[in-house]
Amino acid sequence: MSRIRHLISIDDLSKSDIEYLLDRADDFLDVARGKRRLRTLEGKILANLFFEPSTRTRMSFESAMKRLGGEVINLGTLEATSVAKGESLADTLRVVEQYADCIVLRHYREGSARFASQICDVPVINAGDGAGQHPTQTLLDLYTIRKEARLNNLKIALIGDLKYSRTVHSLIKALALFNAEIYLVSPETLRLPEEIMDVDVTFVECDLKEAIENADVLYVTRIQRERFPDEEEYRKVAGSYRLTAEMLENSDAIVMHPLPRVDEISYDVDGLKNAVYFRQAFYGVPVRMAILSEVMS
Ligand code: CP
Repeated sequence: MSRIRHLISIDDLSKSDIEYLLDRADDFLDVARGKRRLRTLEGKILANLFFEPSTRTRMSFESAMKRLGGEVINLGTLEATSVAKGESLADTLRVVEQYADCIVLRHYREGSARFASQICDVPVINAGDGAGQHPTQTLLDLYTIRKEARLNNLKIALIGDLKYSRTVHSLIKALALFNAEIYLVSPETLRLPEEIMDVDVTFVECDLKEAIENADVLYVTRIQRERFPDEEEYRKVAGSYRLTAEMLENSDAIVMHPLPRVDEISYDVDGLKNAVYFRQAFYGVPVRMAILSEVMS
């Protein structure tokens, strides 16, 4: 693949770059499971800068780095840093890059990761920028689809908050490379923005029942409460869709979710063979090992 220096958007990767990274993730599976040891990133330090909450992205990057022999430093809670004294993002980045070989950045402002890549000499990986992109989530989603279903000519239903979900926005761009047919299921006010539909993909707007009948993959998302300008607007759509075990009785579709979930997948789905969302969270480790190895090699 062409050398990647920063990973800011899924648009930065070609189809062959994506396939290369997914193949590399396969090589790291046993290391991610702790069955094989590797020290290829020994002596390297990763800085985790999270300006928004995270469990999976932050911890799976940390796990990936440590299982490859590297070290991790964390910004920690914002109140305990000089961000609380008014230090700008630019200054924070310029300082932190003095201490690390790579920066993983999650920030509430769309475009923040691109900005970071323009001012930092060390590689920057976008771990989510507002309602923008979340490219490492997309890679682990593609990896999950490849492992648990199939990537080419896929029928996938994107369900829930299609307006604000950055994982959906990134995933659609990638799926366009693999000839996917995409079913869109959402409340009226959370429909996919027009500009995200500007890709070479067949979109079908439908209801949840039709999606379950047709799709190979049901990709469910949480309503992104924190992105609503108005709490009242959130309350109007909260709880408006929920996937249950009963709905999946005659379905072989796999169920994915970037997590965290609120109430959009009933807990009785967890025990079904369809449910792959916890394995999906695990696949974040080998995929992020592949990315870290690439940008720090
Ligand atoms: N999927 C995801 O980005 O999860 P976190 O917000 O917990 O990192």
